[in-house]
Amino acid sequence: MQHWLKLAELDFPPEQFARFLLDWYGREGRSLPWRNTRDPYPIWLAEIMLQQTTVAAVSDYFQRFIERFPTLQALAEASLEEVIDLWAGLGYYSRARNLHATAVRVTTVFAGEFPRSAAELQQLPGIGRSTAGAISALAFEQHAAILDGNVRRVLCRLFALQEAPRSSRAEKQLWAWSEMLTPHERIHDYTQAIMDLGATVCTPRKPLCDQCPVGELCRARQLDLVAVLPLKQASKKIPTRREVVLLVNRNGRYLVRRRPAAGFLGGLWEFPGSYVNEDERLEQRLAWLKAELGLSGPARKLAEVEHVYSHFRLKVIPYLLEAGAGSVAEGSDWVERSELTTIALHGAHKKVLATLAEG
Ligand code: ADE
Repeated sequence: MQHWLKLAELDFPPEQFARFLLDWYGREGRSLPWRNTRDPYPIWLAEIMLQQTTVAAVSDYFQRFIERFPTLQALAEASLEEVIDLWAGLGYYSRARNLHATAVRVTTVFAGEFPRSAAELQQLPGIGRSTAGAISALAFEQHAAILDGNVRRVLCRLFALQEAPRSSRAEKQLWAWSEMLTPHERIHDYTQAIMDLGATVCTPRKPLCDQCPVGELCRARQLDLVAVLPLKQASKKIPTRREVVLLVNRNGRYLVRRRPAAGFLGGLWEFPGSYVNEDERLEQRLAWLKAELGLSGPARKLAEVEHVYSHFRLKVIPYLLEAGAGSVAEGSDWVERSELTTIALHGAHKKVLATLAEG
């Protein structure tokens, strides 16, 4: 059983960690487009984009958003559809919906000024505890801690946490450590520095321990546990659902529709599809879907794909239907094959798109 540490029990002074890290950041810190500012708008935008996403994937999107929406006001005035379409390809689209909702909220409720404290920031859509801490620290130099994926890994190793890091006990301990280590000065730089350490040195695989500025404080290193920490989380059991999907082709164009803005995967594009009830035959649901779209004619089965969401596993069974001229349901669009890769198609149906190339 892990020995739970308290501040008094740290075997190094917390300021030492910050000092080593800040010295290193002065030499090695990355120059990133959202770093030379204290303006909360670009800082918030970058933090939302960087949730579960790498700097490399985010950079172009960040520039495009800033060009298209140079101010919070401009973003708040845009339609949700426009924001989602500009987000296309970045994934985790609830972030785009929350981004828009927060822009509207800050503009209307806070007169366009982001609140400064992590506690208030956390009340806004899409801003969890760590993102709130990051914005508060980066934009307002508030003494706020963060615990994103990178920092979680750094702390699991630094203290050799031998427990699955997402358990509520581990979570509490990790936050406590993060708060202990956060200094009272140079919070902006410290926050960037610890993120950089996780992203560039204390990486998930093949960490560069010989270049680590806090290596001499690292308990995992002393115990030779770096390679096995953080411990893997046991995967949770989730149900499986099936969905029949129709790729309707007419002269090289395909039928897509936008999901309703409210609800699961709201505002994203998809091929027409329908969930299959548990005791239902696929063919029955396929016939229902064809009828809904006003289509007839044979449909050819393509390769199935699987996609895992946090709360269920989706098995998609795609069919290809060559449509003649004829009526189709309202609210649909015909899109060129080449364009399908650029619209905000949700992840499961992106995989379906790949089966088109094969089938
Ligand atoms: N990941 C999350 N926030 C970040 C930031 N500000 N810089 C680099 N990587 C990050």
